Amino acid sequence: MTNSGNTLVQKEAFIKLALEILGPYQERLQKIFSSSLELLGVDSEMRRACSYAMSSGGKRLRPAIVWMVAEALHSETNVDLAALAIEFFHISSLVTDDLPCMDNDDFRRGVPTTHKEFSEQTALLASFALTAAGFEGLASLKIPQENSYKILKTLVARASRAIGGPGLIGGQYLDLNPPLVTKQVLEEIFDRKTCVLFDLAFVFGWLLGGGDFEKLPEVSNLATCFGRPFQILDDIEDMAQDKAANKRINFALCFGEEAAKQEARDYIDKFVALAKELGLGESPLLTLTLAMRP
Ligand code: IPE
Ligand code: IPE
Ligand code: MG
Ligand code: MG
Ligand code: MG
Repeated sequence: MTNSGNTLVQKEAFIKLALEILGPYQERLQKIFSSSLELLGVDSEMRRACSYAMSSGGKRLRPAIVWMVAEALHSETNVDLAALAIEFFHISSLVTDDLPCMDNDDFRRGVPTTHKEFSEQTALLASFALTAAGFEGLASLKIPQENSYKILKTLVARASRAIGGPGLIGGQYLDLNPPLVTKQVLEEIFDRKTCVLFDLAFVFGWLLGGGDFEKLPEVSNLATCFGRPFQILDDIEDMAQDKAANKRINFALCFGEEAAKQEARDYIDKFVALAKELGLGESPLLTLTLAMRP
């Protein structure tokens, strides 16, 4: 992916810091994944495609958010399966996103995309298997709180909406078949294709960590203030590639790189203020988010 020198330097700084903060969470996730392979069926080419997609260098941001939010609430609930579930959902979305009928990408994180390494049919089925495994992971959570039924029902309902037509799938459809592009349209697409999974990660960590149901609207606001700048920064990084592919849904291509950076800065500043209001001010999540600030 080509991009301007400054953005590249900054991306590298983010990755370095992300590695320091995210490293332990990445190891945790890998261990849990290795011991949960049966969620993806018996050993087969399809399951190997799932493992390939799951283990090719993702940052594990969403599971880390689940863990960091629950830890900030001083929770002792084991949220491992929720962390695994959100990564399954995310990786499933990437495998689909790269398919020839979608973004048609041959490489992700410097290695061949799943359909290039395996086949289109295997990649598509692997994506379905990963989503289903995410739901089984959620169903297997052991929630010690008294209102465990209400919590689990909320997590499953929100996961379904986040992944389905109201969320990611609908967002990806709009991304590929955009109406006239305005800032409002871009925001809707970002919210539906990207923020929804961050929203889910924050909500998983919050509710399993014992956070109040009444605060969920604020938690969702916080997720939007993370997800929108995250996608804007991805758009800046992908400017050349998206332009060559004639993709219109790219904030930096629509409004310019400087405006995109300012927009990202504004969201990150709002994120910091909101996180403090929610009692998450001491979390390493703040350091991580500030490192993204362009
Ligand atoms: C990529 O997300 C998809 C976007 C929302 C832009 P990540 O950057 O979190 O993907 P990983 O780290 O490669 O899994
Ligand atoms: C990511 O959008 C949204 C997803 C739900 C996968 P992009 O298409 O811009 O993500 P990258 O650039 O391929 O990671
Ligand atoms: Mg895409
Ligand atoms: Mg893509
Ligand atoms: Mg992109």
